[in-house]
Amino acid sequence: MSRSIRVPKSRNPILGAPSRLKLAVFAVNCSGGSSMSDVPGVIEVEWAEQLAIAREAEAAGFDALVPVARWKGMGGQVNFNHRSFEALTWAAGLSAATSRIGLFATSHVPTIHPVRLAKTAATIDHISGGRFTLNIVAGWNSHEIGMFGLEQLPHDERYDMADEWISLTKALWEREEEFDWDGKYFQAPGAYSQPKPLQDPGPALMSAGSSPRGQEFAAKHTDVIFVATADVESSAVMSETVKTMARDRFDRRVSVFGQVFIICDDDGDLARARFHELVHEKGDWEGVQNLLDILVPNSRSADWQALAANLIGGYGAMALIGTPDEVVKGMEELADAGLDGLTVSWPDYRAGIEQYHKFLLPLLVAKGLRAG
Ligand SMILES: Cc1cc2nc3c(=O)[nH]c(=O)nc-3n(C[C@H](O)[C@H](O)[C@H](O)COP(=O)(O)O)c2cc1C
Repeated sequence: MSRSIRVPKSRNPILGAPSRLKLAVFAVNCSGGSSMSDVPGVIEVEWAEQLAIAREAEAAGFDALVPVARWKGMGGQVNFNHRSFEALTWAAGLSAATSRIGLFATSHVPTIHPVRLAKTAATIDHISGGRFTLNIVAGWNSHEIGMFGLEQLPHDERYDMADEWISLTKALWEREEEFDWDGKYFQAPGAYSQPKPLQDPGPALMSAGSSPRGQEFAAKHTDVIFVATADVESSAVMSETVKTMARDRFDRRVSVFGQVFIICDDDGDLARARFHELVHEKGDWEGVQNLLDILVPNSRSADWQALAANLIGGYGAMALIGTPDEVVKGMEELADAGLDGLTVSWPDYRAGIEQYHKFLLPLLVAKGLRAG
């Protein structure tokens, strides 16, 4: 029997925080963070660095930290993301080192059996006092999955597998007695897991993926969908579509989180010059070619250059480059488009978090986007 005093999942910082626009710091656990570039200040992946960023993000009032699930780098000049802390153990460590901020772990479906996942997540949830969120990624990088000796499944079937994976994991979180599971992808005779997570009925869930099948998966299973959208208009369409699908087909509510990266300066031209240096002078164009070869094989579309520049600058996130007023206006437009939250990254996280705390947060509070 469960002895722990459980807390409703709705109190998880990412669901219960008072701010209209939730904000999470993204990709701290990987070398380069979100920038495929050789500028100074990018993430190195040392534990002291991770602790400092987590504590500074917490002090600045961010709602959560969201890691990337990564197993090898992209080659090229900087070998982007080649160093990375494993996301579940990273979340466990930072849970013990913080007291308020939400901790996510990002996990690839085929890399962990639900019996191990259910217990690992429950353990992190206890360490964090109910601040844990599981971010589910169906996966795209066949080179990484190959390292596990696995074949990449076809796109939509990855979500079929994810459906069974999270269904079994939820059953392990919710059922008190042993049960047998004999599925298409997972077998678990005599399945059992105690203690239950602190969050009731289980940790908050997010799913990262934007395709129609990915939206359907999130609408059915998760509290948040984390999407890649290019601009305000596509964010509005995505938000409306997935929220309507969750309500009409599954009688559920899902929050929608987008991604931004910020380069901000009182002098907007200087901010734009820093982006130019990041991407066009110090960017890893060989690495981004490798990344795009996996992501969209044989693609050399007309907008390749713009796509590549965006990946180098902020790993596909929407760029908010300019003065504090311009950056905050961009965030407001995305909130007005229906996004409930944003992940944020910068080339230099520590400088970015400090700048956010001093200059962006007061503007966001004044606009009613963040609680004070
Ligand atoms: C915002 C966002 C974040 C993602 N984060 C990761 C990640 O950390 N690791 C990973 O391997 N894939 C990540 N993915 C890729 C997804 O796992 C998925 O494979 C990919 O988006 C393709 O699915 P889709 O066609 O439904 O979007 C992310 C995707 C999105 C949209």
